Amino acid sequence: MESINKKNKIGIWQNLKGLDNLYQTISNLIKSNMKVSFNLTMFSFDMENLNLKYSTQIKLFDQISKLIKNYLEEDIELFQFDQNKIITLSFNASIKNTLVHKLQSEKFNIDDIEISLSPQAVETIWPKDGKDFDSLLDKLLQKLKNIDNNYEELQIPTHPDSVLINQKGDFIDKVEKVSTQLYLIAKDKNIEIIKQNIISDRSFQVRGGDEGNFELFYILDGKVKNEDNDLILKRGDSISAKCGDQEKYFKTVTDTTLLYITSNPIFASERKRIKDLLSLNERIAEKDIETQEHCNRLQQLSRMTGIELGLEEKKLFNLGFASFLHDIGKSKIPTSLLQKPEKLTEDEWDIMKQHAYWGKQIILENFNQKYFERIAEIINQHHEKYDGSGYPHGLSGADILIEAQILSVVDAYDAMINERPYQKALSREEALKEIKSEKGKQFSPKTVEAFLQAEKKYKNKVSK
Ligand SMILES: [Fe+2]
Ligand SMILES: [Fe+2]
Repeated sequence: MESINKKNKIGIWQNLKGLDNLYQTISNLIKSNMKVSFNLTMFSFDMENLNLKYSTQIKLFDQISKLIKNYLEEDIELFQFDQNKIITLSFNASIKNTLVHKLQSEKFNIDDIEISLSPQAVETIWPKDGKDFDSLLDKLLQKLKNIDNNYEELQIPTHPDSVLINQKGDFIDKVEKVSTQLYLIAKDKNIEIIKQNIISDRSFQVRGGDEGNFELFYILDGKVKNEDNDLILKRGDSISAKCGDQEKYFKTVTDTTLLYITSNPIFASERKRIKDLLSLNERIAEKDIETQEHCNRLQQLSRMTGIELGLEEKKLFNLGFASFLHDIGKSKIPTSLLQKPEKLTEDEWDIMKQHAYWGKQIILENFNQKYFERIAEIINQHHEKYDGSGYPHGLSGADILIEAQILSVVDAYDAMINERPYQKALSREEALKEIKSEKGKQFSPKTVEAFLQAEKKYKNKVSK
């Protein structure tokens, strides 16, 4: 029951968060009371045929959720997937028919469009339909598949009109990461117009790229610094790039909003790539002791350490990226090894060590090698040690990339101060003492010094 194989379900269940929540809730229920019984009902809405803007679709979906919640007074849990599916968990008899009827008779009014729905609904019952939760979900998915096979990717609706008005807040599609959001506002075959928000103190790169490439970043709000000459760009300034090898690095001084116009449509592929990588990282987090928060803290603290060492923006960018995905290679390591509470045998340990190399490979497979080679190499070296006793290559001293030296200190520190299955958390003081004692052994002395400065500032920042 513990081992739901989410991997196979990703094609249909794009939104893993919803699936995670549902899985957790039901696991807890079943663990707490073996006699429990409940109904799972999946409602799916054919959004594509409604031909709505994506933003309208999201609003509609919110309305539907609210209606379901309000309509049923009894205890009911609601889980959302993919902006077009809702699963309800209820402890009473079937709600399927009454709710379908209610949804069909309701007129939704969103953005001045009147929308009526014809939802599909399927139902499974615990314990009748499944001995364990995996097979229960499988039943549900099977039934859904029989109704409609077309659940792969959200299609961007095509508009027959040649003149379109986009009101504030309208967008076709959206990608979100911790530090940035991209909204696709308009697109045509060879052009995409994107509104991008980036939080302060983050770096981004602008580079020439291939034949026929043209890009423009127009600053709508905020301040951006060019790292080469410390020039501050403000609202109304812009950066453009065309075919060529040059790359420049910029840093956001404040929260910044850009209008990003590109002749090289990337949104769909970018969205998919970011989604895939984030869900890969999330999957590692769920089968390993590494958490998403660990990755976020690492990203911040290694950047701050890099700043103490006076690294240029390009290196800080690479460092941040590598920190966030440093253990992505663990996705290739068997769960039984990652979760083993006892000490690993020598053979098992050899397998575990391969995660550094796998991390490098995953980056090279997913990104343009030309630009991401350094990031891949940082990940490959994140377990090398200053005295040469690390892996995979046993590099020592200055042979280890500076970004990897930083990452290894910060990773070790953050792991120490957070509890692990095999190890109690150390206090901040104990962990710092431990790091200092490894100065010149596991860690490079100057990196440790820079880390200690950065950690002090980081602590002040988060405790504010
Ligand atoms: Fe690692
Ligand atoms: Fe880590």
